[in-house]
Amino acid sequence: MLGLGTWRTFDVGVSAAVRAPLEEVLLRLVELGGRVVDSSPMYGVAESVVGDLAAHLGSTDTLFLATKVWTSGRDAGVAQMEQSLRRLRTRRLDLMQIHNLVDWRTHLRTLREWKAAGRIRYLGVTHYTSSGYDELERVLRGEPLDFVQVNYSLGEREAERRILPLAHDRGIAVIVNRPLVGGLLERVRHRTLPPWATEFDCESWAQVFLKWILAHPAVTCVIPGTSRPEHVVENMKAAVGVLPDSATRERMAALVAA
Ligand SMILES: NC(=O)c1ccc[n+]([C@@H]2O[C@H](COP(=O)([O-])OP(=O)(O)OC[C@H]3O[C@@H](n4cnc5c(N)ncnc54)[C@H](OP(=O)(O)O)[C@@H]3O)[C@@H](O)[C@H]2O)c1
Repeated sequence: MLGLGTWRTFDVGVSAAVRAPLEEVLLRLVELGGRVVDSSPMYGVAESVVGDLAAHLGSTDTLFLATKVWTSGRDAGVAQMEQSLRRLRTRRLDLMQIHNLVDWRTHLRTLREWKAAGRIRYLGVTHYTSSGYDELERVLRGEPLDFVQVNYSLGEREAERRILPLAHDRGIAVIVNRPLVGGLLERVRHRTLPPWATEFDCESWAQVFLKWILAHPAVTCVIPGTSRPEHVVENMKAAVGVLPDSATRERMAALVAA
């Protein structure tokens, strides 16, 4: 239920100095029971960095590797997905997602073929902003999907109106992106946590943000991005202990909004 995003954070060069902390990020993730790692060809060389580091750690088969197709046209999509397999150093991906619904009708046909052939285990679609929800809703209603990935957080709650209930009704697993909405966490994290945060086992604001998301009944997994091993350790603690009930979630939201 707690994985790792790689946008920006894993788009780095080959020097040992920049890669060593990221290798530790992956190591800590796996040690603490995390499995899902989300990437995309849109994220520069992030897929290659994940592939190299996971291979070095011997964790490629332990991880649940999720990436995306982000191009137009069948042939370009196939070429990009083949490239992702090479970069992630695997023969089969756990999840292939259509990034921001780009040319989704074309790619969905390919993904069904790849799933039938055993080259991917699951297929899905992603979006990151509420301006995409009308189309996302149409796809979720009209197509059988395994996963949807969408933005949802204490700073961006729109998905809970239509997308999360729909995914829940249709039996579609939900991965949440942008869980910490950068600026919002920055604004609150130097303030003292309310004493009642300990009632649901939170020691930090990041854990409050993550548990608030994980407590939504439609949410399967959340994928905060980080380049810092200590942040992975902190974030993974949101996957253990008590989750807030709905009344406590609203109390948390009101506090952060204030
Ligand atoms: N359309 C799409 O498909 C789409 C769109 C957006 C995102 N995504 C996926 O979702 C993932 C997550 O979204 P995101 O990376 O945009 O945003 P995010 O996870 O909400 O925020 C990432 C930022 O939070 C910081 N952070 C992480 N843990 C922290 C902690 N414990 N304390 C303080 N700061 C912390 C990280 O900085 P440090 O490095 O300093 O920890 C990083 O700058 C992406 O990496 C990507 O895989 C997909």
